[in-house]
Amino acid sequence: MARERNAVVTGGASGIGRAIGRRLARDGADVAVLDLREAEAEKVAAEIRALGRRSIGVAADVTQTPTLEAAFDRARTELGPIHILVNCAGIADFAPLSEMTEERFDRMLDVHLRGTVRCCRLVLPDLQAAGFGRIVNVSSAAALNGGGPGLTHYAAAKAGIIGFTKALARELGPVGITVNALAPGLIDTPLIRMAGAPPGLYDKAVAQLPVQRMGRPDDIAEACAYLVSDAAGFCTGQVLSPNGGAHM
Ligand SMILES: NC(=O)c1ccc[n+]([C@@H]2O[C@H](COP(=O)([O-])OP(=O)(O)OC[C@H]3O[C@@H](n4cnc5c(N)ncnc54)[C@H](O)[C@@H]3O)[C@@H](O)[C@H]2O)c1
Repeated sequence: MARERNAVVTGGASGIGRAIGRRLARDGADVAVLDLREAEAEKVAAEIRALGRRSIGVAADVTQTPTLEAAFDRARTELGPIHILVNCAGIADFAPLSEMTEERFDRMLDVHLRGTVRCCRLVLPDLQAAGFGRIVNVSSAAALNGGGPGLTHYAAAKAGIIGFTKALARELGPVGITVNALAPGLIDTPLIRMAGAPPGLYDKAVAQLPVQRMGRPDDIAEACAYLVSDAAGFCTGQVLSPNGGAHM
């Protein structure tokens, strides 16, 4: 990265978000690691500083506008204007629709879809002032193929992110801002270990994959590095789905 690039990565304390923060730093970005878990976010920020970039860990809940506003303000104060936003914060939960409460469904939409919308709104003034910006919203292959049983709320939230991404790409293209989505397949992170998925589900899924392995956080970070690069200016409103061939 030849020019100054400051990035905010939500959900940056773990898994895919952590890999993305580290990858963008290796390309020369300074990174604010936003996460519910402040100590873990600060640990990742320390890893990024060890790579030679500026980085801060910031406590933020993407469902709470006031704490989010404060987090973006802190990122601006400590790093400078933001050029790159990666919306990666997420949760997992499984329940068939017949057992799904409205609260559970709403929580999924609130964290993934509305959280993404909130962060995009907060970063817009920086991107518009710069006449340059990169937004990457982390959706899921579940938005494309329905995922597995018990994921109606997750697939709906992640599909919402794709529609939002495309509409925002149309709005912001004329001012030099690209907006794209990543739709990862099954990636080995703490999220899938804690998700309470039916036993054997992931092994079965991997056995059916053309590439015959689970994805790694770095598989997604590589794709993200391209989407936020200066070289990707012609790529907007796209859904890039590194998924080992699960969905073609
Ligand atoms: N792991 C997979 O197989 C997979 C596949 C497709 C999409 N994804 C998506 O990738 C993203 C990252 O997932 P991961 O697998 O790296 O999980 P992860 O659990 O390792 O990381 C998620 C991070 O988000 C943070 N977070 C959760 N709720 C938050 C909130 N309200 N505000 C701020 N931070 C919050 C968590 O603290 C955690 O650090 C998620 O959006 C997930 O849905 C994951």
